[in-house]
Amino acid sequence: MEFRPRLRLIGKISTVSSTDQKPIYGSAPSTQTTPRAAKVTVPSIRNRKGTDKKVLCLTAYDYPSARLVDEAGFDLILVGDSMANVVLGHASTLKISLEQIISATRAVKRGADRPLIVADMPYGTYHISAEDTIRNGLRLVREGGAQAVKIEGGVARAKTVKALVEADIPVLGHIGLLPQSTNTRGGYRISGRTVESARALLEDALAIQDAGAFAVVLEGVPEAVATRISERLEIPTIGIGAGDGCDGQILVFHDALGLSFGPAPRFVKRYANLADMARKALSELANDMGTGCFPTSENTYPTHEELPDNWDQ
Ligand code: KIV
Repeated sequence: MEFRPRLRLIGKISTVSSTDQKPIYGSAPSTQTTPRAAKVTVPSIRNRKGTDKKVLCLTAYDYPSARLVDEAGFDLILVGDSMANVVLGHASTLKISLEQIISATRAVKRGADRPLIVADMPYGTYHISAEDTIRNGLRLVREGGAQAVKIEGGVARAKTVKALVEADIPVLGHIGLLPQSTNTRGGYRISGRTVESARALLEDALAIQDAGAFAVVLEGVPEAVATRISERLEIPTIGIGAGDGCDGQILVFHDALGLSFGPAPRFVKRYANLADMARKALSELANDMGTGCFPTSENTYPTHEELPDNWDQ
């Protein structure tokens, strides 16, 4: 986690007491002094292959979600382009820009210390040329603080993966259901349901591995196919809607916590219903504000001396 001064001085106010030295909104960034677990790296994820330690991954898009994901012990945080859907309310992931992912990655970096931070390369940022792809990948690393990037596609993207890896930008591959290919494929399609399609998927996986990816996401793939691909590969597979035969799993933060709207995809398991909790809490707050039950004297600041009646004259 980056070092952050705990007090942002505004103007010339420099005589604050120590009790005032915390951010005015929310809580202070961690000042934890206990020893921290070793940071997860690209090689340490790669070396999980063949062990029985699953690679635990979740998305995050901001400081609080990153802190919570780190505290829960996840190994890898993906700043996914799913942010377009679950944070920005777009119908597809095609809408997100490189700048938006860079900005989100910076916030995630401030919140997470141990997990590996992987940033999604948005639609259009790795489709033009190797030079443009590398330039965009470097921005995610240098400006965002990502330690690796993710791109969608198999055989067709192998050269792109290779170019990034040769530029010292580690790549997490992503094959199977490809949200960025929704227009080409005519929607969100499960791959590998026929022998021909399962073989094509294996070819995709091998091509991405040969191009130098350190791991590959398998999205929306029948379990039997994902399990076999996982056995064939030398790099870890991270499943989403691909069964438990993969070397790791990933979900979208908002889906796992019940913070997304509308029906969840079949592969999602909700571990909380934060939207319902927030609805209840917010309607209580609105009621308290409206009825004068909030704020109370506990939520206001006392003066340091008694004010005479005519203090304002
Ligand atoms: O953007 C994203 O969240 C993803 C995961 C679903 C793998 O690509």
